[in-house]
Order: sequence, then structure tokens, then C-alpha cells
Amino acid sequence: MSFYRMPKMVTKQLTTIQRSFLWGGKLDEKKKAWVSWEKICRPKKEGGLGIKKLDAFNEALLAKWRSMWGRILLSKYGDSIMHNTRLRGSSNSMWWGDVLKALGEDTSDSWFMNSLSWRLGVGDRIQFWFDAWAEAEPLANRFPRIFSNSLQKSSVLANMGHWSRATIVVALVVLLFLAGTSSANLSNNFYSKKCPNVFRTVKSVVKSAVAKEPRIGASILRLFFHDCFVDGCDGSLLLDDTPSFQGEKTAAANNNSVRGFEVIDDIKSKVEKLCPRVVSCADILAIASRDSVVLLGGPFWKVKVGRRDSRTANFTAANTGVIPPPTSNLSNLITTFRNQGLSVRDMVALSGSHTIGKARCTSFRSRIYNESNIDRTFALARQRRCPRTNGTGDNNLAVLDFRTPNHFDNNYYKNLLIKRGLLHSDQVLFSGGSTDSLVRTYSQNNKAFDSDFVAAMIKMGNNKPLTGSQGEIRRNCRRVN
Ligand code: HEM
Repeated sequence: MSFYRMPKMVTKQLTTIQRSFLWGGKLDEKKKAWVSWEKICRPKKEGGLGIKKLDAFNEALLAKWRSMWGRILLSKYGDSIMHNTRLRGSSNSMWWGDVLKALGEDTSDSWFMNSLSWRLGVGDRIQFWFDAWAEAEPLANRFPRIFSNSLQKSSVLANMGHWSRATIVVALVVLLFLAGTSSANLSNNFYSKKCPNVFRTVKSVVKSAVAKEPRIGASILRLFFHDCFVDGCDGSLLLDDTPSFQGEKTAAANNNSVRGFEVIDDIKSKVEKLCPRVVSCADILAIASRDSVVLLGGPFWKVKVGRRDSRTANFTAANTGVIPPPTSNLSNLITTFRNQGLSVRDMVALSGSHTIGKARCTSFRSRIYNESNIDRTFALARQRRCPRTNGTGDNNLAVLDFRTPNHFDNNYYKNLLIKRGLLHSDQVLFSGGSTDSLVRTYSQNNKAFDSDFVAAMIKMGNNKPLTGSQGEIRRNCRRVN
């Protein structure tokens, strides 16, 4: 157990034996468990029985290798083993790879790395720009422009001039001042101490939801977009209407259309059990959107967290064009995105979200019957399940990307090149206007799309978050506390 990652099956079987012992059952006989296993495994001072959770215990034992024996391993395997957490290739130790996997270091959200804190010492082993010694993320990522001008990119901390505690503090204050961004209060490790398993919990719920119905990943991503565009990413969209409160759910862009709220509820109730009143619904939505994209084959990015939930919603804004309608022309789209601080490039990349999910007939009827900038075969095929007359078959669905509707890729742009964009607002991105060349680029270069999409998602997610003492952490995403 202290040497290998225990296979899930083995952990499960051993836990079953422990549970049967506790509740007095035999191996092949089920007895009622009166208290959840999660609770039983909590420390005694937190109301549990202090029984070891085997998977966590296994991880903790493996973590000892990473911390206690790290230096010995360093001398055997070289520097990369300590700094490069993504070890691949035949020359690397399979056992070490397994240790890193158990610590989550094969992903960018390693619970182990996120829980570490730095002791600077004399600073001769700390890479000034690349180690996350001062902030939650390396300074090179945090201050890319200053980094690109630096003449000492690979220096260790000790070689960056004369460092006293005071000068470090002054320099960091200056860096933070120079950076001054709206997302200054969001960070990658906001929950690493307060709720270290939040990322894992969100992912597992999204994973089973997407396995049941791949479209739900698309629906969650869209929820995030519709939340962020109305007064920032503050979970306002998640609030239910009450007799005395009008939320955003019935606004034109959302009514009978947005979906996925049950998955957010499910995540919230699991996260509340894990760490009550700590994680906001707005953050859950941000993380779940990223996970949805990844699970459907799209790119990964580190989600910054620390958002808080609104106590209000804004029906009027949601209902009056802040969220662009599918009838938008190119200049409408450019303006609505610019109003959110998003560039034309961001807008074209984010529209690539229509590589997954579905739309209702009412959203594309006018396009398939009245427009000329549409492939005829495609229009006829769509007309079969979307009758011309308003009010008939309005809710019949069609996939937004006819090639790979459940896969997050650049086929959306390939479709636009052959006039097979489903929505009017899709095809205007490639109809002889200023965005044609970008569509062509993304259609040919999936990597360029991925990296612009990620940058734009991060930018959209930083939109006017509530932080500090603003708003609240809702207990239930559907209502204010
Ligand atoms: C550029 C302006 C945009 C317009 C005009 C637009 C419009 C629409 C419309 C009309 C639908 C179909 C809704 C229905 O018929 O019920 C839809 C679906 C969708 N949109 Fe957008 N959208 C835009 C941008 C975005 C962005 C920025 C994202 C994500 C970041 C996004 C993600 C999605 C997804 C994933 C779906 C499928 C949802 C599902 O299957 O449940 N859209 N969009």
C-alpha cells in the first residue's frame, strides 16, 4: 500500500469487508448502513469514528515518497523528476509514474501540488519564474508580459539580485500593481485548503452525467455562458423564480431552452456534504463547464476559483439582448461580446462551443427556409424535422455540429466553410465578413482553436466575479440563503 496505487477494485472489496464488519453483516449478506461511510471515516473530533479511508490512506503513504524520498529520487532520476510533474516516455520509472498519478500530478489539478507551501530558504533551488513560490501559479504565467521582457528567465530566486524578506514583499506588490486585472481575486488554489477535493467531486458527477447523456455537457457549458453574460459569473442564472422574485430562467434566451440545473444541484449537494458553505455555485458552474469540455474531448485549462454567489438576478438584462439571439448579424455579435470585454477573436473562438449540443427548431427555422447562404441538401434535411409553420414542431431538436455532435473539436468551423452552420448567428461568422479568415484558420488548425478557446473561456470566466465579502455562498443553488 505504501508502494503501489491500489486498484480501485481492491479498495472497493476491502471497504466492503470493513463495512460488513461494522454493521454486523456477513460478506454475502447486506446490512443497512445507518450512517454514511464518508461520516464514519471522518476523524473523531469531527464526529466520525476515525476509520481510515483506504484510498486516501494509500495516497498519503505514496505522498511520503514524493516528499521524504524526493531528494534521493532526484539524484537517481535527475532534475526533471522534481520539476516536471508530467513524466512520460520509456526512460521514466513506471513506479514513479504511478506515484505521481496517485497524487493527481498527471492532471493540472494535483491535490498534492496544490497543498504544498514553499519555504524559500536561501532561494538557490527555486526557479524564480517557473515555480509557484509567491503566488498560486508561477510568476511567468501570472505576469506573461513582464516575463517575456525578463533577461533572467531561468534564474533561481537567489540570483535575482539581493533578496531580503522586505525586497521580496516590495517586488511582489509592484508586480501585482502592474498586473492589476479584474480577476485578481480569483486563484487556482482558492479551495486547496478549504475544500481540497472539490475538483474531484465536481468531475465525478459531471462524468457520470455525461456518460448517461453526452448532450448534458453542452448544456452545462451553455449555462456558464448565460450566467457570465448577465452581470458576471455569479450563479444568478441558477436561481429559481418564486412568487416574490423573478429570476433569469424565463428570459427569452433561456426559457424552455437552458438545461442542466439538476446536475449542478447534484454537484452542490455532494460538495456541501464535503465542505459545507465553502464552495460557491458560480465556481461549481465554472469547473463543471471545463470538465464538460474535457470529457467531450476538448482542451483542459486550470479554472480560477473564488467567485461568490449573487443574492439577486437580472431578468431584464437577460431578456433584452445581453445574451445574443440566433438572429444576430456579425456586427451585433461583435458588439454584444465587446460589451463583456471580449474581443472578436474571443467571440469567434467561443462560438466554437456549437461543436457540441443541440438547438430547437424555433432557433433555426427561419434560416433553413429563408436563407440563401445555406447548403441546399443540409437545409432540406433539417426541414424534415422542423416544419415551416410557426408553432409546429418548435421544440424538435437538431444537432449544432452535424459531423461530431458529441465531440468537442473544430468541425463546427469546417461546417461553416460548406454553409452548414445551423444557426444564422453561426453562418454570419463565415459569410464574406471580417471573421472569415479566423474561421478558416480554426477549421484547419485544431490547436489554434483550442488555445484561443481556452483563453476566451478564462476571460469570460473572469467577468465581474463577486469576491471577498460580496454576495454569499449559497447552500442551495436555486435560492438565496
Ligand atoms: C455567439 C453568440 C451565440 C448565439 C447567438 C448562441 C445561440 C444559441 C442558440 C440559439 C442555441 C440553441 C438553443 C435552443 O434552441 O434551445 C445555442 C445552443 C448552445 N450554445 Fe450558443 N450561442 C452563442 C454563443 C455561445 C457561447 C459563447 C457558448 C459557450 C461558451 C455557447 C454554447 C452553446 C451550447 C453548448 C449549446 C448547446 C446546448 C444544449 O445542447 O443544451 N453558445 N446557442
